[in-house]
Amino acid sequence: MVWLEPPLLLPIFFLASHVGAAVDLTLLADLRLTEPQRFFLTCVSGEAGAGRGSDAWGPPLLLEKDDRIVRTPRPGQPPHTARNGSSRVTVRGFSQPSDLVGVFSCVGGAGARRTRVLYVHNSPGAHLLPDKVTHTVNKGDTAVLSARVRKEKQTDVIWKSNGSYFYTLDWHEAQDGQFLLQLPNVQPSSSGIYSATYLEASPLGSAFFRLIVRGCEAGRWGQDCTKECPGCLHGGVCHDQDGECVCPPGFTGTRCEQACREGRFGQSCQEQCPGASGCRGLTFCLPDPYGCSCGSGWRGSQCQEACAPGRFGADCRLQCQCQNGGTCDRFSGCVCPSGWHGMHCEKSGLSDWDAGGASSKMKDSGRGLCGSHVSALIGPPG
Ligand SMILES: *[C@@H]1O[C@H](CO)[C@@H](O)[C@H](O)[C@H]1NC(C)=O
Ligand SMILES: *[C@@H]1O[C@H](CO)[C@@H](O)[C@H](O)[C@H]1NC(C)=O
Repeated sequence: MVWLEPPLLLPIFFLASHVGAAVDLTLLADLRLTEPQRFFLTCVSGEAGAGRGSDAWGPPLLLEKDDRIVRTPRPGQPPHTARNGSSRVTVRGFSQPSDLVGVFSCVGGAGARRTRVLYVHNSPGAHLLPDKVTHTVNKGDTAVLSARVRKEKQTDVIWKSNGSYFYTLDWHEAQDGQFLLQLPNVQPSSSGIYSATYLEASPLGSAFFRLIVRGCEAGRWGQDCTKECPGCLHGGVCHDQDGECVCPPGFTGTRCEQACREGRFGQSCQEQCPGASGCRGLTFCLPDPYGCSCGSGWRGSQCQEACAPGRFGADCRLQCQCQNGGTCDRFSGCVCPSGWHGMHCEKSGLSDWDAGGASSKMKDSGRGLCGSHVSALIGPPG
């Protein structure tokens, strides 16, 4: 794969402003390429030292299919793994559609920070499709998984968790063409891979989900869940063990308060989406408890739909509320006219940034970086 425009010097500025405890690991899949021969997965690590050689001695990035729960027929020919340096690995060259269905994982980071990022691939031709592949909820919440009927079959629907029988729904129990699994008062042990399959249909036609249950109630973290989360913005999710925000692709900062330049991702906005259509069609999977989503500015089951006017961010989950003539940018939120700043362009006068804030370099380093202009309305799960 050709990644346009190497990141040049930007990462060095960015690393200084945001060094997180969470491993900077992204697993990307191009959802538009459903032909096995063209489909590929890429895992990118933005860990400090990448590209400068110092992590070349660390444990390698591993990207592989995880057949422990979703078992598919053995591929006729194993896919091909290609490494580019120590910070990027790509798997491609699948031989049949069933090779793609199931769970893929990328493992990166060293020592205690070694982290596994999961991606769950659904067949686009399946009988049932997930409403969204990853659901992140807090301990004690009610999780609702919804399998949408794509090709109807008049048989019961079997729900499984981690591959074991869980629940049966009669085919009459579909609500608006969806089979719902409600899980009240979820606990971290309820996390796992869930599937919905028509009785006697091929497992490849199942809807596969990933449920991530944070170890604490909303807004809390720590061993006994007594610590308060920093209030992650833009759909960032508070890590239940270290209290840090795992930011959606396209956002950065300790509270995910800053938008990256369009088409960029990674903890410090150091990576660039490949190809001319930017991040269109790509799904981004990040360390738990974030899970997977489209890139900023995109939504839909194949991440190909641009946000509707007034909406922005990963999966277009956020809503702009721009005041004073601010306009909504689907990648970064409110873009304010001169003289105004703040999340909703609600503040007048010189901004913190213009006054020489610590991160003013970020704003200067690219068109539309919009550090101080972004807005957020939707609370993250954490
Ligand atoms: C490896 O990555 C560099 C930049 O990160 C890029 O210029 C180069 O084309 C890549 N090589 C391959 C074989 O993808
Ligand atoms: C599924 O497996 C994971 C990892 O092995 C485990 O932590 C989790 O509790 C399991 N979930 C269920 C619902 O069995």
